[in-house]
Amino acid sequence: MPGAPTPALHVDPSELARLAGELARSVGVRIRAMREQGVDVAATKSSLTDVVTAADREAEELLVAGILAARPDDGFLGEEGADLTGTTGITWVIDPIDGTTNYLYGLPAYGVSVAATVADGSAAGLQSGNTHDGRRAIAGAVYIPVTDELFTAFEGGGAMLGGVAVAVSTEEDLGLALVGTGFGYTLERRTEQANVARHIIPQIRDLRRMGSASVDLCMIASGRLDAYYERGLQPWDYAAGVLIAREAGAEILGRDGDTLPGEPLLIAGPPTLARKLRDSVAAAYAAG
Ligand code: IPD
Ligand code: CA
Ligand code: CA
Repeated sequence: MPGAPTPALHVDPSELARLAGELARSVGVRIRAMREQGVDVAATKSSLTDVVTAADREAEELLVAGILAARPDDGFLGEEGADLTGTTGITWVIDPIDGTTNYLYGLPAYGVSVAATVADGSAAGLQSGNTHDGRRAIAGAVYIPVTDELFTAFEGGGAMLGGVAVAVSTEEDLGLALVGTGFGYTLERRTEQANVARHIIPQIRDLRRMGSASVDLCMIASGRLDAYYERGLQPWDYAAGVLIAREAGAEILGRDGDTLPGEPLLIAGPPTLARKLRDSVAAAYAAG
């Protein structure tokens, strides 16, 4: 599909990845310390169980301040409301706490997700690893505070965990695959996802719902999950994770309008397995 060419950028993606990693780690250390002092729900969003804590808000403010200090002319899109158009062509897409329900309950699977993206209308949506609103991550980081794991990647540079290269699993057999997924917050979406999971579970080794899409995608990148699917994610959930998984060798499949109408479906995994999973998930959605 023809589209707008990517603007020429005078920026080193490895520098952006370094900055993303530094900020994700420092903010992650801070929210972990806040968690130890206790946590309360500050507000709810799409449903009574879709919560925001004070830490989500403070973490987003700290990330924005950190990026602005280093790169004052960049733009932002953050889950908790940061929304600014910059002048450099770089927009930072951030999820200050991805896995807020885990954070609230004291479960370990939550992460700070930071991605530097550029506008890219040259390829439609997730099929190419772009966000479904027309951006492409060129650098990013996900930090998991409880395990002190920092995943980073920049385009063409491979994916790193603590500076050491990681790679996706070599599994090709869907029947042996450990598959991650997630469920949205609204009743309608959750009901649809439960029906799909009912079809998928008999075809795979087992299903994991860890509660953080960015962590799931890092588990794909490091071969600790074989494949992953979820429908209805927002760009901040997956912008950094998709880049990290792709740079570790994952194929990213599924796009708006490809097999499903409406909100996009994201599938990630080693190429052969990802395609098999896409066929199964598409069949499960078709079966209703
Ligand atoms: C959620 C997590 C979860 C996924 C949901 C997301 P949040 O993000 O990534 O794993 O299943 O779709 O909304 O609300 O914890 O930032
Ligand atoms: Ca999220
Ligand atoms: Ca969040």
